Amino acid sequence: MTGKTIGVIAIKGGVGKTTTVTNLAYVLSNVFGKKVLAIDANFSAPTLGQYLGIKENNFTLHDVLNDRAPISDAIIKHEKGFDIIPSSLVPKKINPYDLKDKIEHLKEYYDVIILDSSPNLNEEILATMVASDELFVVTTPDKPTLNSTVNAINVAQKKKTPIKGIILNRVRDKKFEVNIGDIELSTNVPVVAVLPDDLKVLEALSFSIPASAHAPDRDLSVEYKKLGGCIIGDNFNDERLKTKFKKIFGMSASKQDVNRCCMLEESKLK
Ligand SMILES: Nc1ncnc2c1ncn2[C@@H]1O[C@H](COP(=O)(O)OP(=O)(O)OP(=O)(O)O)[C@@H](O)[C@H]1O
Ligand SMILES: [Mg+2]
Repeated sequence: MTGKTIGVIAIKGGVGKTTTVTNLAYVLSNVFGKKVLAIDANFSAPTLGQYLGIKENNFTLHDVLNDRAPISDAIIKHEKGFDIIPSSLVPKKINPYDLKDKIEHLKEYYDVIILDSSPNLNEEILATMVASDELFVVTTPDKPTLNSTVNAINVAQKKKTPIKGIILNRVRDKKFEVNIGDIELSTNVPVVAVLPDDLKVLEALSFSIPASAHAPDRDLSVEYKKLGGCIIGDNFNDERLKTKFKKIFGMSASKQDVNRCCMLEESKLK
C-alpha cells in the first residue's frame, strides 16, 4: 500500500481545520472503507484528541518527535474506525520539521494520513506543509480570512506542495459573505467544498464525534463525503430525496461539484 498524506491548513484560528480533519477521517474510513490516520500537528494548541474524546495517552506525537517513543506507541484506535496520533497538551520542546521523516513510512499501512495544522505562520505549519503530499486550505466567507487564505497559499506554493483546493466553511448564504467567485479570483485555487454553518457540528462535538457520524444526512456531512470521495479518486452518490428532486427539476451542478469533478478527472489521468 502507498497512501498519501494530506495537510489541512489555514493561517487563521478557528476556521474549521480540526472539524474538517475529524470529518474527513470519519467519512474516508466509514463510507469509503479506507485505512485512515489523523495526526495532530498543531503542536502548541492541540485539540484533535479532545474533539474525538481521547482522554490522555501515554505517548503523543511530541514523544515520537523527541525519540522517547516509537510511533506505534502513540497510535490510538478510535471506536469510529480510524486511528489517531494526538499531541501533548503539556508543552514539550520538539523540532516540528522531524514530522515528515517520522510519518513517511506509515504510508505503507494507511491509505490516507491527515494532518491537522497549527493556525500560526511559524515552523509548525511549515512542517505540515512539507510533510504533506497535498494540501487543502480552510477558509470562511469573510475578507480578513480570505486575506489570510491568500497568504497561506503563497507560503504553501513556496514549499512546492500541491494545493488541491479550498474548503469554504461556515457558510450562511448571506449576501454580505465573500462568494466562491471572489475566493477563486483572489487565490487562483478551486473551491472544492462548501460547508454550511451548522449547529450539528457543535452538537456532535458535545458527544466527541464528528458531525458526519452524528448527522450523516446533513448537507455538511454529505459535502464531506463528496470531498472525501474526491480525495481518494472515488465518487459519492448523494441519494437523498431532496437531491433527486433537484435533479428532476434540472437544477444545475454547483461550482464546487464541478471543481470536484475536475479534481477527480485529474487524479484519474495520473
Ligand atoms: N461548519 C460549521 N458549523 C458550525 N460550527 C463550526 C463549523 N465548523 C467549525 N465549527 C466550530 O468552530 C469552532 C472552531 O472549529 P475548529 O476547532 O475546527 O477550527 P480550527 O481551525 O481547527 O481552530 P484552531 O486554529 O484553533 O485549531 C469549533 O467550536 C467548531 O465546532
Ligand atoms: Mg484546530
